[in-house]
Amino acid sequence: MEKEKRLINRISIIPEPVKISLKEGKFFINTETIILSDSRLIDNAEFLKNLLSPATGFSLAIKDISQKEKERNIITLRIIEDNINLKLEGYILEITLNEVNISALTPTGVFYGIQTLRQLLPPEIESANIKNLKWSMPCLKIEDYPRFKWRGFMLDEARHFFGKEIVKRTLELMAFLKLNVFHWHLTDDQGWRVEIKKYPLLTEIGSKRKGTFSVEARGKMDGIPVSGYYSQEDLKEIIDYAAARHIVIIPEIDVPGHVTAALASYPEFSCTGGSFEVSPRFGIHKEVLCVGKDNVFNFVQNILNELIKIFPSEIIHVGGDEVKKRRWKKCPECQTRMKTEGLESEDDLQTYFTNRIANYLSSRGRRLMGWNEILNENLDNSAICHYWTNNFDKVLEQARNGRNIIMSERTAVYLDYPHELTPLERTYEYDPMPNELEEKYREQIFGLEGLLWSEHVPNVKRLDWQIFPRLIAIAETGWTPKKRKDFNSFQKRLEIYLKRLDFHNINYAKKEEIIKQ
Ligand code: ACM
Ligand code: ZN
Repeated sequence: MEKEKRLINRISIIPEPVKISLKEGKFFINTETIILSDSRLIDNAEFLKNLLSPATGFSLAIKDISQKEKERNIITLRIIEDNINLKLEGYILEITLNEVNISALTPTGVFYGIQTLRQLLPPEIESANIKNLKWSMPCLKIEDYPRFKWRGFMLDEARHFFGKEIVKRTLELMAFLKLNVFHWHLTDDQGWRVEIKKYPLLTEIGSKRKGTFSVEARGKMDGIPVSGYYSQEDLKEIIDYAAARHIVIIPEIDVPGHVTAALASYPEFSCTGGSFEVSPRFGIHKEVLCVGKDNVFNFVQNILNELIKIFPSEIIHVGGDEVKKRRWKKCPECQTRMKTEGLESEDDLQTYFTNRIANYLSSRGRRLMGWNEILNENLDNSAICHYWTNNFDKVLEQARNGRNIIMSERTAVYLDYPHELTPLERTYEYDPMPNELEEKYREQIFGLEGLLWSEHVPNVKRLDWQIFPRLIAIAETGWTPKKRKDFNSFQKRLEIYLKRLDFHNINYAKKEEIIKQ
């Protein structure tokens, strides 16, 4: 028992796996180790080889799994078809004295097995320079699969633009945490960050602002221009990069509010005609798309057409949060629309807008997702609700009516909030599955997302500092069975995990910095 405890203490994996059985002995990776791979898993085999190479200096041979009989020190990657208990993203990792075996129903499962294997090696495996260490792993068997199918992170690049390399680095870190959804907030009042060929002004004008009225500038205009956007070629490159790490990218085009940058480019789609500038201010803006004008629907649909061509994800996020109704109340065209459609309120006008877009996306084989403000009794059934604040009862009611929901409770998983306000323990203990929700409706809750709004996050150092370590806690909530979660155990494992992040120069928030903050 004592011995088993000691052995268990040497194993430190995040997210905590479903089941670990320890055995005696160790497996050593050395220059002779061979990766034997199913032909469907060649990408995984290459990923593993490239993962091990910088720190070990080994360039491991990859061979077809049919050659197994002849080999001694081997890592096998295989697809199995006969384990019904294993979920689609699950894996079995077995380590004996001579063999490491990762098996799964899908390449994604094998990929996650590799991410776990990585954490059974010393933290120095993350180093970019050759270390002279013995690369051993304890003999064991791990059976593992995720609690939720949606384990996400959202990055807002409208308020500040980070660019391709930082996004790739983020995706890399997400994969390490077995996170599988990258929600990309690409447009807002302060910037439009995605090339749309039919509307070139969206980026020519909409991607540039002259400065920012910010807390950092004591409420004054700082005069520091912010600009940047992704070309469609960039987007394809990043989508491929994410796919290789088993991450789906959900783009978000926020409409009909949060559109000042779009209206600065095309004021004719507003209620008033403009003019507007890309906003240097944060907070909720009054400008919205005019729902009375038919060409506004053409505008949104043409944008979606280009996105659909690039993004393979079934789900497209169209925002819908914090829509001020003042413009619609005064706009003759919006008021005419309400009359002809028999809509009683401006809230109903927003639902009319959302449903038209939802139907359009459905006609193209896609699905709409929006923030919880889109909820309304007449909202199209296909629309997915992204919960962030208020009206939680409505969310429960909608889940009971069959609505699919992603959870991002503002007071728990908003990673831009100060650590003081939302400490690591609060984030860790947040459970996206509402206690009140009856068992039979629980599958309506797809999972959770941590969000990073970037108003006060101007660079990657600050980005790291806000995200980590809280995103690590979110990853464990998304993956680990609730009954296996334990904050004390997490904190111990986190110390080791952070040593791994040190090798990637991640500027995570340290305990002493959080206290001083
Ligand atoms: C939000 O924070 N406005 C979704
Ligand atoms: Zn209008």
